[in-house]
Amino acid sequence: MKMTREQKYRLLRQAEPGELMHLAEKVDLCDWRQSYHIQPHTGLLNDPNGFAYFNGEYHLFYQWFPLGTDHGMKYWYHVVSSDLAHWKDAGIGLEPGDSYDSHGAYSGSAIVKDDRLHLMYTGNTRDSDWIRHPYQCLAIMDKDGTITKHEQAVITDIPAGYTDHFRDPKVWQDGDSYLSVIGAQRSDLTGAAVLYRSNDLINWTFEGELKTSLPSFGYMWECPDYFELDGTGVLLLCPQGLEPEGDRFRNIYQSGYLLGSPLNTATREFNHGEFIELDRGFDFYAPQTTEGPDGTRLLVGWMGLPDLEYPTDDNGWAHCLTLPRELSIRNGRLIQRPAAGLAGLRGEERSFSTLLNDETRRFEGAEGSSYELSFTIEQFDSSGTFGIEFRTSESERTVLSYEAGSGTVTLDRSNSGAPASPAYGTTRSCTLENETDRKSLEFRLFVDVSSVEIFVGDGEEVFTARIFPDPSSTGISFFANGGSAAFEASFWPYHKGAIPQERPADIYN
Ligand code: FRU
Repeated sequence: MKMTREQKYRLLRQAEPGELMHLAEKVDLCDWRQSYHIQPHTGLLNDPNGFAYFNGEYHLFYQWFPLGTDHGMKYWYHVVSSDLAHWKDAGIGLEPGDSYDSHGAYSGSAIVKDDRLHLMYTGNTRDSDWIRHPYQCLAIMDKDGTITKHEQAVITDIPAGYTDHFRDPKVWQDGDSYLSVIGAQRSDLTGAAVLYRSNDLINWTFEGELKTSLPSFGYMWECPDYFELDGTGVLLLCPQGLEPEGDRFRNIYQSGYLLGSPLNTATREFNHGEFIELDRGFDFYAPQTTEGPDGTRLLVGWMGLPDLEYPTDDNGWAHCLTLPRELSIRNGRLIQRPAAGLAGLRGEERSFSTLLNDETRRFEGAEGSSYELSFTIEQFDSSGTFGIEFRTSESERTVLSYEAGSGTVTLDRSNSGAPASPAYGTTRSCTLENETDRKSLEFRLFVDVSSVEIFVGDGEEVFTARIFPDPSSTGISFFANGGSAAFEASFWPYHKGAIPQERPADIYN
């Protein structure tokens, strides 16, 4: 999408002359640029927004502050894919600066109506006392990619009983009308999600709060999402302010789901089970889902968290998105698998098969910093701990282990390289369910230059983490401690070129 001179001027209006190019040059010097994860050309990326299948392609936007790694004036940046693996730049999606989004085009979602993609988002504004005034806004994208903002906000008032933390509309169709769930904070400083209804996406009526059994669960719920999967109601939410409980809630903020009977949209009652974290790693937040053309429910998350510093900040960029995941439900839990299209990134397979007994063995012929690796452990002794070390060198390693007796999986990034948010610890663990009958366990790792996503046991659990190793840390080894196990592994190098590597000239030149 070509930008007009005026748009370009407005993008740069806070930048000193040459600042954006100067920032881009710093980014180019960074050793931790990803090779197949969606990342910003400069500045900071946060939440995925407006994820939708429209006009034969997947459209995905993300929160973007172009000029640095602070949470500054947020834009929506737009990328497009036909297979959820290869992405093309589509330029700036939403630019802030109108009266209803003067201080940022904050998070929101998309829905197709009348052959156009409707983007519903939060316009953040501040008054002269820097008090926040959120508006819920609408923009419409035509089939040719032109995005036009609706001339005024579609929800202007905050209902009584809520603070100005009122944002992140997620919209879906319900019969002949549309529903939108919005993240909120009650006046008593507890988190909630509220529901609005509309016939045309323009005129909205406040219906009231979603009635869950979590009346006091953190001080704010960000980025709610509701959908139904195989007759089950699923509510995603990002509660802020939970205290750690054992292995749970170890990150600065949480994101997880509630499964229940379908939401009663008339009474807004949602009867559900416990809150379960979507991801057991270090860097995951603000996920958003959409439905693919074949009905598959797809999820993308932000591989980062608010209010933390990351090692790439010094190079003028921060964060990336997770790989898309396909959702299903099994045994009362959400199962997450990497999107099928990712297999299109695979290079030539190398395989490995061995029995290890209290020893470590290198995966000869397989190394690198961008690859997919799947391995299965079988015939394991219940006394042992088994796993993999990757991105290894003399001094660095990232370690994934499975303690067979307890069924505990642990990701350890204590020696992964430059430290990332060390105040929140360097290991994450979870204990798998249904362990008694387990005879084998599969892990699928997606390693990129500065991240890893680990799908455990066919998507029962996922660990997502940024890691910042030296480029020379490329080795892979398997280990068995305190017992023996059989290992079968397959490795596929991933080629560059899945994501845009060139900066869009109309923004950066
Ligand atoms: C979540 C969030 C959203 C908000 C957006 C602003 O990370 O705080 O609640 O809309 O980021 O960038």
